[in-house]
Amino acid sequence: MSWALIPLNEEQREIQRTAREFAEAEITPHSAAWDRDSYFDKSVIAKMGALGFLGMMIPEEFDGLALPTTTYVVALEEIASADASIAVAMSVHNSLPTQMLLKWGSDAQKARFLAPMARGELLGAFALSEPEAGSDAASLTTQAVRDGDCWVLNGTKAWVTSGSEADVIIVMARTDNPKERRGARGISAFIVTPDLPGFKVGKKEDKMGLRASPTVQLELVDMRVPAENLLGREGAGFTMAMQSLDNGRLGIAAQAIGIARCALEHATVYAGERRQFGKPIKEFEAIQFKLADMATRIAAARALLYQAAAAKDRGEQITQYSSMSKLFASETAMWVTTQAIQIFGGYGYVKEYPVERLFRDAKVTEIYEGTSEIQRIVIARELYSRSP
Ligand code: CAA
Repeated sequence: MSWALIPLNEEQREIQRTAREFAEAEITPHSAAWDRDSYFDKSVIAKMGALGFLGMMIPEEFDGLALPTTTYVVALEEIASADASIAVAMSVHNSLPTQMLLKWGSDAQKARFLAPMARGELLGAFALSEPEAGSDAASLTTQAVRDGDCWVLNGTKAWVTSGSEADVIIVMARTDNPKERRGARGISAFIVTPDLPGFKVGKKEDKMGLRASPTVQLELVDMRVPAENLLGREGAGFTMAMQSLDNGRLGIAAQAIGIARCALEHATVYAGERRQFGKPIKEFEAIQFKLADMATRIAAARALLYQAAAAKDRGEQITQYSSMSKLFASETAMWVTTQAIQIFGGYGYVKEYPVERLFRDAKVTEIYEGTSEIQRIVIARELYSRSP
């Protein structure tokens, strides 16, 4: 079955093959058990690091593969089609903390963190949200106060993917004066490591899906962060986070497409094997139409993602296209996995087959890194901010 409407180049095909073989050997055999046990296997991350999958867009001087975004999303789809939980760790690490360090890190910060992150020895995370600051991210309240050669942070970060396993976390906190708030311009970004005094992993969320990906709160109580761990300019943390989410949302689109593709593959096989009324159910138009629509939407989602990734590689502003891509791919994943369950009937509703997990995993792609509603707001705003 040919999947790529837009032909892949030799490098992309090679990376795709490597990712697919790795996923088939090291991930797929375990994904049902990891989901059942809510188990995050960090050894897989180390193996992915050895293959370069944790430093896909990091330059070679920092031990990365220096690949374009268009190749990264091809690899990410493969990993996601095997296990969406592993894929989100890969996506967050590649799109958010490493890209932030690369773009805004000082030479010393890059030297300390980037190479071990590219090799997969240090796993990255991103902490923007808080219990009371989700879609309205600029309303976050974690406060950082300068004290000598440290910043002292107090607050609770929420919904942090890989937060309990990460070695490097980019934490957004307020550095403005509580009596003179500066809104989004009062937020700064800090490089946080779990060994800092006052850092504590809090509640682990008991999630519907993506159960093998630990999502936690971080409790920061008088956490002392060395001043040299301020990332970028003081007060620039929110725009840095938003710009990085433009990248992150491409990763979530790739993850959603991987989930959807896996559901289609299972549904296609099942419809060929399952017999009712004396013939395989794939011979009924009701099933054919579902499969046709599933394949069409996935192809469209992938084409949009590849175009958005190519725009990023050309250095263009991708805010609108990354939101479009994430919106369309995540709603495709939810719709396709719903159809897959319908094709499986009762067997789709039980854990014996993987489509039930895919359905649960798909849902969060419509929520994290900006809900579908937020993506629509971003897309609509961009319509008005661009000259005709
Ligand atoms: N690129 C660069 N700068 C941007 C930007 C972008 N994409 N989006 C906004 N900015 C800048 C603006 O230009 C503005 O800068 P100035 O002050 O210099 O003018 C500043 O940021 C504030 O922008 P807005 O006024 O647009 O901010 P807002 O408060 O209205 O919020 C929003 C905009 C789009 C709703 C934003 O809050 C948003 O994206 N919310 C969703 C948050 C989100 O995606 N959270 C996910 C967290 S990560 C996660 O899910 C868990 C995980 O571990 C993966």
